[in-house]
Amino acid sequence: MSSLDIDKDNLQTVEILLDQKTIARKVEEMGQLLTYDYRGESPVLVGVLKGCIVFLSDLMRAIKLPLELEFISAASYRHGTEQDEEVVLGGPVSIPLKERHVLLVEGVVDSGRTVSRIQGHIRLMEPASLEVVTLIDKPASHRTEIDIKYKGFTVGNEFVIGYGLDNTQQYRNLPFVGKLVDR
Ligand code: IMP
Ligand code: MG
Repeated sequence: MSSLDIDKDNLQTVEILLDQKTIARKVEEMGQLLTYDYRGESPVLVGVLKGCIVFLSDLMRAIKLPLELEFISAASYRHGTEQDEEVVLGGPVSIPLKERHVLLVEGVVDSGRTVSRIQGHIRLMEPASLEVVTLIDKPASHRTEIDIKYKGFTVGNEFVIGYGLDNTQQYRNLPFVGKLVDR
């Protein structure tokens, strides 16, 4: 496994978990699968800001179908314990989702609360179907029952950065997925 010095002041090193080629191959594969599964349809991709952006921009170009694009934002606030975490949604979805095939696109699913909260919100709009697409899933961290039909990679409990994913708003522009390690 290779590593990269990126943040000399904080004395942290980024260890590469998923390199660019590995990600590109997987995203292409996911795009082909979605193209097949949604053949004859025009799905609406709803990206969860901000972590989805790099994944979504690559994925949408790998889907050979007419599609529409929408975004929703979500922020988690902790009141006391982790169980009390509240997910607040923002950015009104302007495309009517009633009777549409909706794909909710996330960068990473951790506790599953964000996805679960957004699914509830979208279901109220009575879509024809609703499935979750995530680049990375952390199944050991799930705190709620969620069904993720399309996932690129599974990782353990580690905090990952890059390819759109941040640590305190930094590192989203790394072209690979890595994790921070102390030196
Ligand atoms: P949830 O716990 O599944 O609701 O995830 C909440 C949000 O936390 C995700 O949408 C991400 O923005 C962020 N998050 C969770 N795990 C990671 C990680 O490993 N790296 C970067 N962001 C993460
Ligand atoms: Mg974040």
